[in-house]
Amino acid sequence: MSTPADLVFQSYGRACNQADFFEYFYGAFMSKSEDIRAMFKNTKMETQRGLLRGGIMWLIMHARGMPDTKIRALGESHSKKNMDIHPMHYGLWLDALIETLEKFDPEFNQELGSTWREVLLPGIQMIQNMYHD
Ligand code: HEM
Repeated sequence: MSTPADLVFQSYGRACNQADFFEYFYGAFMSKSEDIRAMFKNTKMETQRGLLRGGIMWLIMHARGMPDTKIRALGESHSKKNMDIHPMHYGLWLDALIETLEKFDPEFNQELGSTWREVLLPGIQMIQNMYHD
């Protein structure tokens, strides 16, 4: 029997190897807010797309029981004293990810979308909670 984290892992496998997945994600994410676009204005997006591939994988692996070292590293880099990514932006980040999965995972449905949210939430909350640390 597959766990929710297994279903998400398999969904990511179907979706993220398509060439445009990360490009579409950043298009969706940046279309949501001027503030978000501004944060990436000096970013080399080709490199960033590759980094995000790993970042999402860390969130999934964390949900599958891996230690939280990588998630803590993201919490540290995104915290107020480093990149200063306010916790309020993560809702739009997750919405953009779900929209991207809906387009790229041929087996996507509403239930799988909810499973994605439920599986990634603890890792995202850990990153948000490190904002002030
Ligand atoms: C849980 C969700 C997120 C994940 C998995 C993630 C992942 C990453 C990764 C892997 C990097 C590369 C540097 C590092 O390893 O720390 C990075 C950089 C960055 N992230 Fe995130 N991120 C997330 C959410 C966000 C949000 C919500 C924003 C803000 C709108 C954001 C803005 C940035 C910026 C501005 C950079 C640096 C870009 C540069 O080098 O110019 N991230 N992110």
